Amino acid sequence: MSIKDEVSKRKTFAIISHPDAGKTTLTEKLLLFGNLIRSAGTVKGKKSGKFATSDWMEIEKQRGISVTSSVMNVPYKGYQVNILDTPGHEDFSEDTYRTLTAVDSVVMIIDATKGIEAQTLKLFKVCKMRGIPIFTFINKLDREGREPLELLEEIEEVLDIETYPMNWPVGMGKRFLGIFDRYNEQFVKFNGNEEETYIPYSELDNPEHAELVNSATYQETSDELELLDEAGDQYSMESILKGEQTPVFFGSALAPFGVQTFFDTFVQMAPNPTPRKATSGIINPENEEFSGFIFKIQANMNPAHRDRVAFLRVCSGKFERGMNVTLARTGKAFKLSQTQQFVASSRDTVEEAYPGDIIGIYDPGSYRIGDTLLESKENYEYDELPQFPPELFKRVTAKNVMKAKQFKKGIEQLVQEGAIQLFRGHPMESYIIGAVGQLQYDVFEYRMKNEYNVEVMLESIGERIPRWLKKEQVDTSMFDERNMLVKDRDDEFLVLFKNDFALRWFMDKHPKVELIDLFEVN
Ligand code: G4P
Repeated sequence: MSIKDEVSKRKTFAIISHPDAGKTTLTEKLLLFGNLIRSAGTVKGKKSGKFATSDWMEIEKQRGISVTSSVMNVPYKGYQVNILDTPGHEDFSEDTYRTLTAVDSVVMIIDATKGIEAQTLKLFKVCKMRGIPIFTFINKLDREGREPLELLEEIEEVLDIETYPMNWPVGMGKRFLGIFDRYNEQFVKFNGNEEETYIPYSELDNPEHAELVNSATYQETSDELELLDEAGDQYSMESILKGEQTPVFFGSALAPFGVQTFFDTFVQMAPNPTPRKATSGIINPENEEFSGFIFKIQANMNPAHRDRVAFLRVCSGKFERGMNVTLARTGKAFKLSQTQQFVASSRDTVEEAYPGDIIGIYDPGSYRIGDTLLESKENYEYDELPQFPPELFKRVTAKNVMKAKQFKKGIEQLVQEGAIQLFRGHPMESYIIGAVGQLQYDVFEYRMKNEYNVEVMLESIGERIPRWLKKEQVDTSMFDERNMLVKDRDDEFLVLFKNDFALRWFMDKHPKVELIDLFEVN
């Protein structure tokens, strides 16, 4: 098969949601439909002590080596579907955001009983900023939830994106009868079990469906649907691909109901790997020469070895195991022989991969997050990965002052790898570590101890608002604990404000000092 054919089969996406919205349940159903697992429930059940196949995190944590999100490769109806997990809660980290740089689209799951929740909003903002197409699945229709129209309004208002309901639910919870599948022009009847009945719109008049059609809930909803047809947003594939409109699917991951139709439609609509920007111009996925970039580095997946795995997104050409590539940043050559692919619960050696695929490559300690690897004679690099605003800040010191050298070395290495963000106090040098989630500190502490033999002490300085300022405007007498002056990795000055109040107070007091917000996502 040509590279072009392979590209046309690839669908690489991440699922974003707030914990408990149903990400694991929905992923499990995809594996089930893709025949990768035999029955639902075999991979699920946090309470029973079993783990979902996608929940490698948990397993890795048990082994004391918790890190970052996982990848799954699922053959589905002729497509190669690559799902990238974005873990939540205490597992949330900068990697969760970075994962979004490696996908071509996103599935956003919203719990119908709760609406938009905090983590969904954070991840959504990154998708919006990057213009990633977003497909929405509103879950848990088998429960009494919020009104569908109210949910759409909330998405439009809070997320500032147009919605187009692909289907429309008839009732909810105990009164749930099914959905009008607007896209395929059929009614999908809920039978209270996994079986779904598909009735084309043209057959709804048949007497056998009279009971359904004459029910008050059905009547009410079809009036609502008429209104929607007339007054709602128009379906626009162009807007969807730009991330300006989101197709919305209602369903229940658990039942499962509406899930099959959702996946079938999603794989048809979701974009294939698209051309990407690089320093030399736009790189087409169909280019013959292999290229890709590293969006995540995972350390110590196997506690017996100190090896690291770099997650690489293939962007063009064909990857073959054992091939020679160049690391664009240094011009150094590498042979990619130890490689892994992520198929459901196992990690198999990968022999070849195509644009859109994610492969794990052995990292001898040479790679950094954002690195480009290429087969090409012409050297180019993919766009630098953005830094995301840290939400937590901690001051770090070595327990044993005699270990200052290893302490510095460890921190420098982990910063380079992108595991944490470092800020250095000024003029008194101190180390402040910024992170998006607590997990990053756990990993940091663990790795400093295990890889650099340094025990560290972390002291929270609370949430902070970072604002950059110009060197010539810095006067050290303006700063104190509430508005802390620090330098970033490029030696640029910034202030970590304790809160909004401290920020405003500073702006009032020093109106001439220009404060800059460098993080695009805020
Ligand atoms: P997550 O990965 O997004 O965190 O969510 P997960 O799939 O684990 O689902 C969270 C809870 O919501 C689970 O129940 C799950 O069974 C339930 N759930 C998921 N989809 C649906 C749905 O469509 N309808 C209903 N009613 N419930 C749904 P739990 O009791 O917390 O966990 P478990 O004991 O079932 O593992």
